[in-house]
Amino acid sequence: MDLTRRNFVKVCGLGLAGAGTVALVGCGGDTEQPADDSAETGGDTGEVANNQKPVIFFNRQPSNSTTGELDMTTLSFNENTYYVGFDATQGGDLQGEMVLNYIKAHAAELDRNGDGIIGYVLAVGDIGHNDSIARTRGTRKALGTAVEKDGNIVSDPVGTNTDGSSDLVVDGKVTADDGKEYIIRELASQEMKNQSGATWDAATAGNALQSWSSSFGDQIDVVVSNNDGMGMSMFNAWSKDNNVPTFGYDANSDAVAAIAEGYAGTISQNPAVQAYLTLRLLRNVFDGVDINTGIATEDDAGNVIAEEDYVYNEDQRSYYAMNLAVTADNYQDFTDATTLYATAQSQLDESASPNKKVWLDIYNAADNFLSSTYQPLLEKYDDLLNLTVEYIGGDGQTEANITNRLGNPSEYDGFAINMVKTDNGASYTSLLA
Ligand code: BGC
Ligand code: CA
Repeated sequence: MDLTRRNFVKVCGLGLAGAGTVALVGCGGDTEQPADDSAETGGDTGEVANNQKPVIFFNRQPSNSTTGELDMTTLSFNENTYYVGFDATQGGDLQGEMVLNYIKAHAAELDRNGDGIIGYVLAVGDIGHNDSIARTRGTRKALGTAVEKDGNIVSDPVGTNTDGSSDLVVDGKVTADDGKEYIIRELASQEMKNQSGATWDAATAGNALQSWSSSFGDQIDVVVSNNDGMGMSMFNAWSKDNNVPTFGYDANSDAVAAIAEGYAGTISQNPAVQAYLTLRLLRNVFDGVDINTGIATEDDAGNVIAEEDYVYNEDQRSYYAMNLAVTADNYQDFTDATTLYATAQSQLDESASPNKKVWLDIYNAADNFLSSTYQPLLEKYDDLLNLTVEYIGGDGQTEANITNRLGNPSEYDGFAINMVKTDNGASYTSLLA
């Protein structure tokens, strides 16, 4: 069955029942079904079965956390299931190149103990999270420290490797801009998971750097982190006072501001595009319009996303925003991470896009990026898109903590899901089936 069609009919019906001719916009003379006005208000969705409602996964892509293989069963749960994230490989590579360029330009002053080795430490977010894996790989690839296994760069943390003996990484070599050769070594890396199991844990990263620096501090020339939450915690715990360049990811406002104080760089994963897409796809399904309305093609209000800022991969049913490097050269343009996308800021007309109710969860209410950047953007976009969103914050540890709070899916018109573990798509879709 073609759900898009169903919703199309439903929205046209709604217009006829409610707001007269105004809402005929987009109905294009479609008269194949009589209107059913029982669905007049958002949330009263008696006629659409839960398993036919739109489901948007975001930030954590349904996939096998060991192999990275996409979970296409979840991603094709129904015709209106999509993933919204960003291009993890392009972003990881960009982060690695940003670090490499910095090392090349500053090698002589970076080598704090003058041993000819540029030593770095790496904070790993979550060993089973594809974004985290891509960033670890991108850093190792650019710095020449990568080891391959079965055609993939090994992304496991090394623990400590101050003597260069680990077989999970190798020593890299770089010719600095001044012509001198240096060795690059991954001195230490660790998954930053706290005792209760929460990953990407900022406090754990700060503590890890404290203990690394007290045992081999003079070898640490560069600090790299899979995200800014952990990066800022490391910067504040040690590297700021010791003038050791620290690189993160996410371009959260506090991290961008810290660039003025020596934080070396971060990557914007284009969160405004992602937050917009997360809610816009739901909106388009509700309205029964082409799924790329207001995305690839301008909507009636003038909203559109430029081609260079995202890609849609049809086989993967996934929209990916493109990443941008943020360094001392351009950080002024990124000071507020919650700024809306330049050409997607216009309010939709209520008659064509009537209010709908959405259930949305964030896997961990304490996640730095999601709570300080992504959710504030979602909250701005829900108004512009006429959506009433119920935000649920998880504990970052167990799926049940979140799924328990989706007691009555029939109350909602659509769902936006951020899983604790990327393997757990079925924990959500089973509630709708
Ligand atoms: C962000 C991290 C965040 C994670 C949560 C990543 O894309 O870069 O900062 O902790 O998503 O899933
Ligand atoms: Ca050194």
